[in-house]
Amino acid sequence: MCGIVGYVGSRQVAPVLLDGLSKLEYRGYDSAGIAVYGDGKINVAKARGRLKVLSEMTDEGKSVSGVMGIGHTRWATHGEPSDVNSHPHVSSSGRFAVVHNGIIENYIPLKKRLMNKGYEFVSETDTEIIAQLIEYYYKGDLLEALIKVIERVEGSYALGVLCSDYPDRFVAVRKASPLIVGVGEGENFIASDVTAILKYTRNVYYLEDNEIVVLSKDSVDVYNTDKEIVNKEIFKVDWDVSAAEKGGYEHFMMKEIEEQPKAIRDTVSARIKDGKIVLDDISLDEKYIKGINKIFIVACGSAYHVGVVAKYVIEKMCRIPVEAQIASEFRYCDPIVSCNDLVIVISQSGETADTLAALKEAKARGARVLSIVNVVGSAIANASDDVLYTWAGPEIAVATTKAYSTQLAVVYLLAVYMAEKLGLLTVGEYAEMVREIQELPDKVAEILKSKEKIQYLASQFYNCHSIFFIGRNLDYAVSLEGSLKLKEISYIHSEAYAAGELKHGTISLIEEGTLVVALVTGNNLFDKTVSNIKEVKARGAVVMAVRTDTHLHDDDIADHVITIPSTNEMFLPSLSVIPLQLFGYYVASLKGLDIDKPRNLAKSVTVE
Ligand code: F6R
Repeated sequence: MCGIVGYVGSRQVAPVLLDGLSKLEYRGYDSAGIAVYGDGKINVAKARGRLKVLSEMTDEGKSVSGVMGIGHTRWATHGEPSDVNSHPHVSSSGRFAVVHNGIIENYIPLKKRLMNKGYEFVSETDTEIIAQLIEYYYKGDLLEALIKVIERVEGSYALGVLCSDYPDRFVAVRKASPLIVGVGEGENFIASDVTAILKYTRNVYYLEDNEIVVLSKDSVDVYNTDKEIVNKEIFKVDWDVSAAEKGGYEHFMMKEIEEQPKAIRDTVSARIKDGKIVLDDISLDEKYIKGINKIFIVACGSAYHVGVVAKYVIEKMCRIPVEAQIASEFRYCDPIVSCNDLVIVISQSGETADTLAALKEAKARGARVLSIVNVVGSAIANASDDVLYTWAGPEIAVATTKAYSTQLAVVYLLAVYMAEKLGLLTVGEYAEMVREIQELPDKVAEILKSKEKIQYLASQFYNCHSIFFIGRNLDYAVSLEGSLKLKEISYIHSEAYAAGELKHGTISLIEEGTLVVALVTGNNLFDKTVSNIKEVKARGAVVMAVRTDTHLHDDDIADHVITIPSTNEMFLPSLSVIPLQLFGYYVASLKGLDIDKPRNLAKSVTVE
């Protein structure tokens, strides 16, 4: 949601801003704009619609002269997508231009106050108040004025601010919204994430809440709200530029599906040494693990689905009660969490507003928070007691695939690690599990080799109006993800059901030709789910089953059967999800949809 880029240096800035914004398109947006300092004033170009509109309007940026500027892609929250509501927003005098990601919760009283003082507002946005407030507080010192503003606004923000009195520098600040600083040679940057600036520099600063950065061509100074200099450490990003490019693939989603073996290997191999799981990055020792009363897993969307898998896996292996909760529910349910509980927060972006709020809620109640996060230095990572990073690399497609898979891998490592500390595994069981985890990347790669079969099945069903996914236990947890993957990119209605729950109502929706995708990978419950398959088939359903190669002789259970390799039952979700990701992808592709940027969705959901 909303993307920010800022630049000061010697290059013509507008093409740099447009290029950076194009790298942030995946975040989701409906309008775009830039503000550039040139000839003693700030020039703004902004328009509703795709970046292409802005690019054409400015002759790919060439018609806007200047070497310092800020740019923005807006995902509408306050006020419809329109030219006037697009960012940057400019103060009444035209002296200040502001781009903003986040929400200013108290903008209405602040706006009323300024209107009473004669300020005129032109947009419906919450952001315009920032530009006007800076103007109101400005007495010749931009830093001072910005500090006054952030002391008065409530909510979340990443801000980039240009002032026409400052021809060679601009300022930025963040709180609970992402913003990184890119440090180049003779040029410096701000951006919502590193993908926007990776082409120019790999050296970044991660800002803490309310750290303010002043950027000029040759300097980057970070201040706290007492105007004291903060010494920051440079972080070197080791991603390849190609990690954020399509590299010959038609869509990022397929590229990221294919990257899963590597992503899982990168996530796992750094944490297994001489056959032992080593979680150096966190401080959960045996004493602490033995004292855990209950584990909560809190997340949104697909990350929550990882939490549902984790509930089964951790409970089974560690015999500790686990509750998986949707973050937007957890934060408002007055949760019964205490200091003996561990709260595991899962997030790819590390900036999902509900997940961050749930984390704060848990910490306020004394719980210890361990997060599983993909983006280094993100708000969720910063706010956690311990972080286990997933080394998936940048995930650009809105529908997650490789981040989901690496989150699962971290869950397995953590579960086996804790079970061993709890004395619940024999030496042999432990060694076997570690080996099975290490073998997962190759098994995922093996499934990816038979993509054509899934593509064929997609061609048989892409005109369906409604599709059901069923399974029991871990198969149910994966059904949730398979169903979400399909519906979010193909716009086909789909539901995931615990197979045993179907006959308590939902089975009445099954009619002649309804597609039911049945996951039957678990050995223990194989026969139970096969009975459910028979029930839906008896009512006209066409069934596509996913089962392991241990059931090779069971081809008559369904109309179509997809086979995956076997592994320890606890780790099967990593394998069974792959055909479902591919199925969703191919269905959307056959429907000719915008797979990487599905309608109405944003990659990083930074508002609640
Ligand atoms: C679905 C998807 C979303 C995210 C959810 C949480 O494909 O990607 O459901 O999983 O919005 O996002 P993060 O993991 O960034 O907190």
